[in-house]
Amino acid sequence: MSKRIDILNGPNLNLLGTREPEVYGSDTLKDIEAACGARAKERGLEIAFHQTNSEGELVDLIQKSSKTAAGVILNAGAYTHTSIALYDALIACKAEVIEVHLSNPQAREEFRHDSFVAKAALGSICGFGAKGYLFAIDAFADRLKKATK
Ligand code: DQA
Repeated sequence: MSKRIDILNGPNLNLLGTREPEVYGSDTLKDIEAACGARAKERGLEIAFHQTNSEGELVDLIQKSSKTAAGVILNAGAYTHTSIALYDALIACKAEVIEVHLSNPQAREEFRHDSFVAKAALGSICGFGAKGYLFAIDAFADRLKKATK
């Protein structure tokens, strides 16, 4: 079985580091990628890390992950709250999905309270900043270890 976890990031996450640091923290997406790579290595996993501002490209990436990844960690940014196309791609996805958000959308504006991603995900990790990605890698590592026992 593939031991690769695909980490997919949606719109505006390329701006991390300078985008509302009081909400999203000061780590850049490159910092997060490096931390994820290190944690995955410790846990015997590989990662592929992507960011796109385009909804269609995110759908394409989920379709690709479905065929080749052991799991998907998805921070879909604002598409989380709007995209039925993403929901459809996720329910068709053969790989399990963990939703991650740096902030806690439930504690923010009402338009962030609903998540099309959560409806198709194994679970959601929100509000722990960049550490949320590492928690998701640990969750997949534990699940995959159990599955191969
Ligand atoms: C976010 C939360 C979303 O509501 C927002 O649109 C983002 C970032 C987060 O990681 O906290 O772009 O996904």
